[in-house]
Amino acid sequence: MAKLAHAQWSSRMAFVLAAAGSAVGLGNIWRFSYMVGDSGGAAFVLVYLACVVLVGLPILVAEWMIGRRGQKNPINTMAELAANHGKSKAWALIGVSGVLAAFLILSFYSVIGGWSLNYTLSSVIGTFNGQDADAISGLFGGMLGSPTTLLLWHTAFMVLVVGIVARGVTKGLESAARLMMPALIVLMLVLVGYGVASGYFGEALAFMFRPDWDALNGGIVLAAMGQAFFTLSLGMGIMMAYGSYLGEDVNLISTARTVIILDTVIALLAGLAIFPIVFANGLSAGEGPGLIFVTLPLAFGNMAGGTILGLMFFLLLTFAALTSAISLLEPVVETVEERTSLSRLGATFASGAAVWALGVAALLSFNVWSEVLFFGLNIFDLLDTFTSKILLPLTGLGAIVFFATCLDKEETRKELRLDIYDYSLWNLLAKYIAPIGVIVVFLAGFF
Ligand code: PHE
Ligand code: NA
Repeated sequence: MAKLAHAQWSSRMAFVLAAAGSAVGLGNIWRFSYMVGDSGGAAFVLVYLACVVLVGLPILVAEWMIGRRGQKNPINTMAELAANHGKSKAWALIGVSGVLAAFLILSFYSVIGGWSLNYTLSSVIGTFNGQDADAISGLFGGMLGSPTTLLLWHTAFMVLVVGIVARGVTKGLESAARLMMPALIVLMLVLVGYGVASGYFGEALAFMFRPDWDALNGGIVLAAMGQAFFTLSLGMGIMMAYGSYLGEDVNLISTARTVIILDTVIALLAGLAIFPIVFANGLSAGEGPGLIFVTLPLAFGNMAGGTILGLMFFLLLTFAALTSAISLLEPVVETVEERTSLSRLGATFASGAAVWALGVAALLSFNVWSEVLFFGLNIFDLLDTFTSKILLPLTGLGAIVFFATCLDKEETRKELRLDIYDYSLWNLLAKYIAPIGVIVVFLAGFF
């Protein structure tokens, strides 16, 4: 008996680590903080938190359950489950748009992963030591202005991702995540402590949690929902694919809660670490994608032990970015492998090369192509906006609608281990609040 209990624990633990490895990444630290800054603070944060609970939780559970029922890749899982329930094969489109989203996201994700790699090296050689805000901003601007520097680091990041996926060593990374995630949290706490000491912590708290509802608009609400999808790796079949490896013994709701709390805590800590530095140094919160790269080095460059802490931080950030990037490349590789005559290895290199090429277009939008605009957005912003605000919400909506309308109620209730009363609450969330919420936010963002 004892042995069995242990086996169960370790399979649930392995699953939580894999899911958290995908969820926790640049989205929590880089993207969350810059979106908060761009969107004016607390109203965004509170809408984001509401989206995580009301939309993110049910969709995460839905994706896992669909994956566990289907036991295949997302496209085939959706096609087969739909057929079993007498529904149209068109549901497989959910899997298709998920793969497309993964491909597009990875291209610009790798560019930022490259920044993180670059900053890891800069921390090692002490580039940030004793520098003031202007100097740090200058270093960042210099990197953005140099296509070759961006290209070098984007390429290095993609080579790492492709190398890891090609060698199939992702399992080892998952167990490393077990150590890295707590280390990341501890480091963030150190940075929050630095923020408290700076004397601007109160201002940061107010910025993040005291909302000015008048400033809220449909665009900010859509951005907050997009961030919720992005950060939880939802709406792209990744969590569905993970669900297909899931044993019957795993309690989906409590596991989702664990992953969501971890992801959210890391994002909020990132905000509480970054905004005191912004206010203490008279920097702009609306700095954009460069926000963590012009704030954190400033803190590390001017605190005791900053060199080693900065090195550890960017190393951990790079690692978190790698585990997420791997989860993004996997579904693309799987699809290419199944639909072409390429071997696993060939599919990995071909997918990696295609992602890399699109990433080059994204990085050029920071310099030579900065004037190349579509719908008023440069290529980088276009990729980010199109995926987080359109593809992910629509795919996630498809998954939750399928879940709520096609699967058998009583079976679902038993699988979720809910009594009748809790199930009616769950049903309210999954069948009405989450889908209607996504539709309303989606429309509000465009009109
Ligand atoms: N969730 C990851 C992050 O927060 C990014 C990601 C998005 C990974 C979508 C996989 C799928 O960084
Ligand atoms: Na995340």
